[in-house]
Amino acid sequence: MTKYIVRQSGPLRGEVTISGAKNAVLPLMAATLLNDQECVIRSVPHLRDVQVMKEILESLGSEIEETETGEFHIHTHDVKSAEAPYGLVNKMRASFLVMGPLLGRKGIARIPLPGGCAIGARPIDLHLKGFKALGAEVTIHEEGHYAYVEAVAGPQGLIGDRIYLDFPSVGATENIIMAAVLAEGTTYIENAAEEPEITDLANFLNKMGAKIRGAGTDTIRIEGVKTLKHVTHTVIPDRIETGTFMIAAAITRGAVHIMNAVPDHVKPVIAKLRECGVRIEAGDDDIIVRGDLGPLNSTDIKTLPYPGFPTDMQSPFMAFLTICNGKSTVIETVFENRFMHVSQLNKMGASIETAGNRASIKGNAMLRGSQVMATDLRAGAAMVLAGLVAEGETEISEIYHIERGYENFIEKFAALGADITRVE
Ligand code: EPZ
Repeated sequence: MTKYIVRQSGPLRGEVTISGAKNAVLPLMAATLLNDQECVIRSVPHLRDVQVMKEILESLGSEIEETETGEFHIHTHDVKSAEAPYGLVNKMRASFLVMGPLLGRKGIARIPLPGGCAIGARPIDLHLKGFKALGAEVTIHEEGHYAYVEAVAGPQGLIGDRIYLDFPSVGATENIIMAAVLAEGTTYIENAAEEPEITDLANFLNKMGAKIRGAGTDTIRIEGVKTLKHVTHTVIPDRIETGTFMIAAAITRGAVHIMNAVPDHVKPVIAKLRECGVRIEAGDDDIIVRGDLGPLNSTDIKTLPYPGFPTDMQSPFMAFLTICNGKSTVIETVFENRFMHVSQLNKMGASIETAGNRASIKGNAMLRGSQVMATDLRAGAAMVLAGLVAEGETEISEIYHIERGYENFIEKFAALGADITRVE
């Protein structure tokens, strides 16, 4: 099994360049199913999840060329199958994002039910509520060892309507936007997710001829169109990778210059790190983080849908709070089970207690190297951050989680002076 060995590394120093956002490029790739013209997506990060999405699109009929510079040319002349293969969908929940565009383009879609995962049940009820509101017949079928969802549009295809999301789900917002692009009439999504990845998707779709207004707010209007055209688009930088490196500079008391970042997308992380005494200078497309200019103090965090503090930054920030002076509280409101990293951090000498969705962190921990595991993508990153300051050597297993979401993770950290090695 592949592991990371992380040794106490001292202050990280230098420059790091942020890659394209994983959680933007996956919906962008899915959206190309809507278009019978070629779509060019630039600055695609080299990630396992991207390769899985590529295979799914190819299985549905897309022709995809990948250049060494991370440029994807995706052309779906015709969708040959409306059924995503179980083996691929099972590898990645985000595969469910092909349902909306398939339904929109072909009037039918059959996708295996995405399983839950370590951080929660991850239901899809809001996605299905949206498809039904657009007039699709949605049924769930059990077939042997797996179940799939089938959605079939009405005889006139999908018809726009008004949809209220009980929770501002990122995936449901994306899936419904994509289903509505070619629908008859106008669709309104109320209580929509406001994440930057939604805005990036809307910009991409509008460039190919869609008519979407309000992305980035809680109400999004999609006017159906008949045809789409060739599009070229560059993926936004990854705000969660940005936040991860900001925390890396803080926890090691280093000085890191983050390039190709969008400070506007990480405002809560900037605000919270400043509360802890970290010095941050935000430029137009870069951020300088100084963790070496004074004491690091505790603060309290509550995760919320964007523009609140991102749930994906909860575990990395908690790793940082374990070494800050004083008590901190972390409340997780987005996922029902996203404290799996607490026991791993406590194994390294942290002092964290949880009660329901609230964690109390004692601070001033003397972390020591230990054998720990990555329980999800971001918790894996949190363990690496803790390992950088823990005394001795930390061995992290299940690191496939990390490598599916962070491009050149080891190389980027090593370039800043981190002592991390990958061992088979
Ligand atoms: C996206 O997941 C991200 N993944 C997640 O990042 C991120 O943590 C999450 O948004 C929240 O920001 C991608 O974009 C590929 P949700 P998604 O639907 O769309 C409930 C990472 O680390 N819900 O906003 O699945 C759900 O149970 C990953 O990169 C319903 O109840 O998130 C959860 O509690 C992890 N019904 C909450 O909403 C539904 O139909 C947020 O889920 C859908 C969701």
